[in-house]
Amino acid sequence: MESGKRSSLALLPLFLSFLFYFDFSKKLPSSDCSLLPHNHYWIASKYIVTPNGTVSGAVEIKEGRIISVVAEENWHVNSWFTTVVNYGESVVMPGFIDVHAHLDDPGRSEWEGFPSGTKAAAAGGVTTLVDMPLNSAPSTVSEETLKLKVQAAEGRVYVDVGFWGGLVPENAENASSLERLLNAGVLGLKSFMVPSGINDFPMTTASHIKEALPTLARYKRPLLVHAEVLLDLDGKMELEDGVENARSYSTYLKTRPASMEEAAINQLITLSKDTRAGGSAEGAHLHIVHLSDARTSLNLIKEAKQRGDSLTVETCPHYLAFAAEDIPDGDTRFKCAPPIRDAANKEKLWDALLDGDIDMLSSDHSPSVPEMKLLDEGDFLKAWGGISSLQFVLPATWTHGRKYGITFEQLASWWSEKPAKLAGLTTKGAIAVGNQADIVVWEPDMEFDLDNDYPVHIKHPSISAYMGSRLSGKVLETFIISAMSLLVVPLTFLETTTWHDI
Ligand SMILES: *[C@@H]1O[C@H](CO)[C@@H](O)[C@H](O)[C@H]1NC(C)=O
Ligand SMILES: *[C@@H]1O[C@H](CO)[C@@H](O)[C@H](O)[C@H]1NC(C)=O
Ligand SMILES: [Zn+2]
Repeated sequence: MESGKRSSLALLPLFLSFLFYFDFSKKLPSSDCSLLPHNHYWIASKYIVTPNGTVSGAVEIKEGRIISVVAEENWHVNSWFTTVVNYGESVVMPGFIDVHAHLDDPGRSEWEGFPSGTKAAAAGGVTTLVDMPLNSAPSTVSEETLKLKVQAAEGRVYVDVGFWGGLVPENAENASSLERLLNAGVLGLKSFMVPSGINDFPMTTASHIKEALPTLARYKRPLLVHAEVLLDLDGKMELEDGVENARSYSTYLKTRPASMEEAAINQLITLSKDTRAGGSAEGAHLHIVHLSDARTSLNLIKEAKQRGDSLTVETCPHYLAFAAEDIPDGDTRFKCAPPIRDAANKEKLWDALLDGDIDMLSSDHSPSVPEMKLLDEGDFLKAWGGISSLQFVLPATWTHGRKYGITFEQLASWWSEKPAKLAGLTTKGAIAVGNQADIVVWEPDMEFDLDNDYPVHIKHPSISAYMGSRLSGKVLETFIISAMSLLVVPLTFLETTTWHDI
């Protein structure tokens, strides 16, 4: 586009902040964002990532919706009469949708919180996130506790937020309680096959899950599963008289071997067969969260998918960015469950992602207060697990992925399109006509150091495993249209969800 188009920019205070709002009807939690004073405008770039590929051209936005996507050669607007925001060679992509974030609000907002967590999301190009039902207090396991979530979030979020509900033994065995939770507008359920570490979020066995699947099938809502089970590790978990060093990451790794994931997934695929066409839970969908084991566990998932099970899987940037061998002694910022495994496993995760065997990515952003990470002691066995990453998922995925030749289209698929489908968000996840104009603009070749000078919005930067690293792929702007929407959706709206196109 000719540089003349840039002239209209001078009229707008656009480059002053990272975030634009133009929904005047809602109050902003603070002044770190700016309102774009237009309800009809164009975003132009040489690299607009659409489901039809990356095009040079412009996206037309009116009243918060994308109303056209036009290639440069067909784009004829008079820049004197039209507002054009021209990003030149910066990439314009659908905003990231993070289907796995723990905002810990209400009840543990000293760990994270709706304002801080959603500000970190906006700063990192994440325009929608789906909050996990645990680490807040109480956990979101009933209609009543969902109401507390919604009350805590109302007027305090900077991006769109939806909620997963918890599947726990109490509601798994009580269909009417589960129905009330689903009717109240959670986007789906999440359960743990190992103790979650949170008292009011007990684990579910395969038989609890089996019991819940027909209800989920009726509602066409997914069940997200933390797939690890406790094993009798033949005494391997016993640390011989403290000989094993708890400051060594390898000690922690031994306590959560890949066989724990494998055993859980083995149980799950005996259930997911019922989701096949004609099965007793047809219409239900199982989604395995944060897969770490790229060996046997991944093969089991691949085979189940090939047999027609309604099954998807995500992994997280920390499994793709870090390797167990490189984690310094005592650096508990890297503790999470399942654990980060060896470098060869990391390579296999990338292969699986590139081959489409892993469907999507999520942050599993899960901070705590710094004291619980025991950074001074560095005890991997006692420290709280959870990686704090929400603001950095775009540059982390890009920095590590570009070595494998990932494309902008793949990024958009893993971080927007497929997560939108999992969560049933039919007007999000792509730069396409009719969709909400949730957009991230970023610069692939811009490198930056994540140091104390970098504007970090995550509540506790000191516990983020990414601090101290150099990343490329800087987020320049995040456009959010229905800012502060809580995606608490009446279930009838979701009846048309189909899983097959994830
Ligand atoms: C099932 O849940 C409903 C609604 O939450 C509750 O009223 C009922 O007492 C529960 N039934 C049992 C058997 O616990
Ligand atoms: C992709 O291109 C086809 C053919 O030009 C068009 O019909 C379709 O609407 C486009 N899809 C999107 C999402 O832009
Ligand atoms: Zn999690």
